[in-house]
Amino acid sequence: MDARSLALVRADFRGVSETPGGAERLISAFYGHLFAQDPRLRELFPPAMDMQAKRITTAVQFVLDHLEDFERAQRFLEQLARDHRKYGVEADHYDMAGRALLAALRTFHGNRWTRELDDGWRDITLLISASMAIGANEDTSQPYWDATVVGHRRVLDDLAIVRLQADGPIPFKAGQYVPVAVPQRPNMWRYFSPAIPANPYGEIEFHVRRISGGWVSPAIVNDTKVGDRWKIAGPLGGLHVDRESGRDVLMIGSGTGIAPLRAQLIEMSQRGINPRVHFFIGGRYPGDLYDVDNMWQLSQSNPWLTVVPVCEEHTNPWWYPQDSGQTPMGMPRRLVGNLGAVVTSFGAWSDRQIQIAGSPSMIANTRYALQRAGTPSEIIAADPV
Ligand SMILES: Cc1cc2nc3c(=O)[nH]c(=O)nc-3n(C[C@H](O)[C@H](O)[C@H](O)COP(=O)(O)OP(=O)(O)OC[C@H]3O[C@@H](n4cnc5c(N)ncnc54)[C@H](O)[C@@H]3O)c2cc1C
Ligand code: HEM
Repeated sequence: MDARSLALVRADFRGVSETPGGAERLISAFYGHLFAQDPRLRELFPPAMDMQAKRITTAVQFVLDHLEDFERAQRFLEQLARDHRKYGVEADHYDMAGRALLAALRTFHGNRWTRELDDGWRDITLLISASMAIGANEDTSQPYWDATVVGHRRVLDDLAIVRLQADGPIPFKAGQYVPVAVPQRPNMWRYFSPAIPANPYGEIEFHVRRISGGWVSPAIVNDTKVGDRWKIAGPLGGLHVDRESGRDVLMIGSGTGIAPLRAQLIEMSQRGINPRVHFFIGGRYPGDLYDVDNMWQLSQSNPWLTVVPVCEEHTNPWWYPQDSGQTPMGMPRRLVGNLGAVVTSFGAWSDRQIQIAGSPSMIANTRYALQRAGTPSEIIAADPV
């Protein structure tokens, strides 16, 4: 593909993304053309497909942005297709997808479609479908594992700890996250971070907070039963402690964001030598620090670990059980204030490797607070939430 054609396609896609409702119209046409080729493909999708426009256009944009580094674009597409295996998508489907995307672009533009656009987009859609077919064909590992719920405990009104026994060991590293589908919401995959490291028995634990108005998390917190069968797909993400760097560690977690940090700390506690770790656990009210006792216990037998509880408010609101969030005996008192402000009141932590985990807003605010305090951004890691 020559530079002129590539520039034309890039400018065209920018136009689609910048048109109000453009991405939604394009992707709706894409599905229309895809399902017209084979109506059975609709069954692979969940009932609500409203989140898809943004995700698919972001993926296409990523490819367009990385065409000069062709291998990177290809690797991304192959990985995307490997991940698509959990939806039941097979290599043969990508030929139809490539044609559907080209037809959708044609539909979107109507009589503004030109011969040059057709040539340029034909190359791109071919690249996407061929790379994805390769990714789907090359990976012969299991697309997902089945697991049985063996425990479901509501530790807060809106938060449950779910324990499962997978049919086989799931090969994730502590700190990674996995796509999960539950029987109450078939085909609606969501990411959750295991809160314990992988073990040979396939035991796995998730901490799930109910998002009001959400499809999947309320079903997990309110309706999950022992015996339910979940699907858990291959791990993603790279939160980890870099032992080669020689740096000590700062971990900042709030809410269920403590899960990937906790899994790493439990794994570290099984080793003899570890870097020093400061773990700030945040929540709005004292009662939100639902796991602080366990982390405190862990720190008691692991002198390299210091746990610092932080709340935004001094006391629980009246609707919380009043005794929830008691500080365990011997543990330093909770610090009160905004998590980022409390952490940076100790300095910029520039000599550390830093991990932040929590809601998207908590990650953004804490990262901002650290950077304002002078922390270099390259030592801060967080999952893409
Ligand atoms: C890498 C990663 C790891 C994750 N790990 C965990 C975990 O260990 N435990 C856990 O409980 N969740 C975790 N999540 C969040 C989880 O994947 C779901 O997004 C969340 O449970 C909401 O799903 P839902 O189907 O209930 O809501 P949806 O139906 O997907 O969304 C409903 C509405 O809620 C909004 N929304 C979605 N998530 C949030 C949020 N966190 N805060 C505020 N509004 C939101 C959406 O924008 C949408 O408007 C993780 C997410 C990512 C990306
Ligand atoms: C042009 C090729 C394709 C691209 C670029 C693409 C891209 C994407 C992306 C980026 C996501 C979101 C993934 C995530 O957030 O984890 C997604 C989800 C999905 N894709 Fe594709 N896809 C393609 C082809 C297909 C095909 C051919 C099928 C099925 C026949 C398919 C089925 C699905 C399903 C079922 C989902 C999940 C939907 C949901 O959870 O709401 N995709 N796709």
